[in-house]
Amino acid sequence: MVLTTLFFLAACSQQGNNTQQLQAQIDSLQHKLDNTYKPGFGEFMSSIQVHHNKLWFAGTNNNWKLADFEINEIQEALNDIQQFNTDRPEARAIGMINPAIDSVNNAIKQQNKSLFKSSYTLLTNTCNNCHKATEHEFNVVTIPSHPPTSNQSFKPVQ
Ligand code: HEC
Repeated sequence: MVLTTLFFLAACSQQGNNTQQLQAQIDSLQHKLDNTYKPGFGEFMSSIQVHHNKLWFAGTNNNWKLADFEINEIQEALNDIQQFNTDRPEARAIGMINPAIDSVNNAIKQQNKSLFKSSYTLLTNTCNNCHKATEHEFNVVTIPSHPPTSNQSFKPVQ
């Protein structure tokens, strides 16, 4: 009887040590997670800015494959904001851009340049509407006059 009790107590104290060790490991992993690099809202936006620009030159050159690629890159960055920038209340406003993205997607599917231009204008206006809604009205997006780089062709590949 005494022996059984001793075994029981020994087992309990062993378990206590294990729990402490596990907690220390969890704390250390949490610390690592908290300090892991993740891009900020502004970095995602700067990438969206480049794809927004390229999208215009893709669509106006009837390069529908590239246009499709660029609108998907914008969509991915918007998804990333929702996943990685949950600490920013502005992330909750992202959904307001969905109808404009759908509209651009539809124009690309139809390979319709005039529909593309009007959807692109709607997209650009929605970017600015969200900037106004999130007190970033000083970030004004426009229809681009030049591509962002000189080393990419926007003509469709024959
Ligand atoms: C959720 C609403 C929202 C939508 C939709 C949105 N933005 Fe933004 N944008 C922001 C916020 C908030 C910032 C400020 C980010 C920061 O804190 O650095 C920003 C910043 C920017 C910047 C400045 C980045 C910099 O650091 O210089 C650009 C450029 C930009 N957005 C482009 C766009 C474009 C292009 C679109 C549309 C395709 C768009 N944004 C759609 C909220 C939005």
